[in-house]
Amino acid sequence: MSEAGGQGPDRRGLLKGFAIGGAAVGVAVHAIAWMRSLVPNVLREPPTRRRIGEPGRFPQGHTYLADEKIFVIREEESVRALSAICTHLGCTVGTQGEGYHCPCHGSTFAADGEATGGPAPRALPWHPVEVGGGGSLIVDLGVEVGPEVALVLEARAPKADDRKPGGAQGEPK
Ligand code: FES
Repeated sequence: MSEAGGQGPDRRGLLKGFAIGGAAVGVAVHAIAWMRSLVPNVLREPPTRRRIGEPGRFPQGHTYLADEKIFVIREEESVRALSAICTHLGCTVGTQGEGYHCPCHGSTFAADGEATGGPAPRALPWHPVEVGGGGSLIVDLGVEVGPEVALVLEARAPKADDRKPGGAQGEPK
């Protein structure tokens, strides 16, 4: 009896400690939840309009930009941007001959981005390119255009040996 009476205060003290600790944890969890509720739930996504550099950065043909996952295609004085994200499950496609090939499941795409084989359900999207402030090119990854939409750059300064009457003068779109 005296033993049980001796353990009583310890057990009570232990239970009291658990109760106080549990209450403190509960208050802390609610306080954290309340403080979190003060921060707005904003989904931070990168901007879709990306500055990709001046036209001189892009030689004739394809230039792959890893950050944007696009091919910048320069043909003479026109520039277009084609997504390199496979429309099947999002792998990065590479060039293959005149078109494109996805290494993940074998989808193939024609030069205009149309899906020509494999599981890809649709064409690779094209994105508009424009000239921004300072002459840098800007591609809008949030907008899709047709493969025929190209930015025609201002004609370069004519060289002495290529002056021809009626030379094309493009306007930025
Ligand atoms: S992700 Fe390209 S074929 Fe599957």
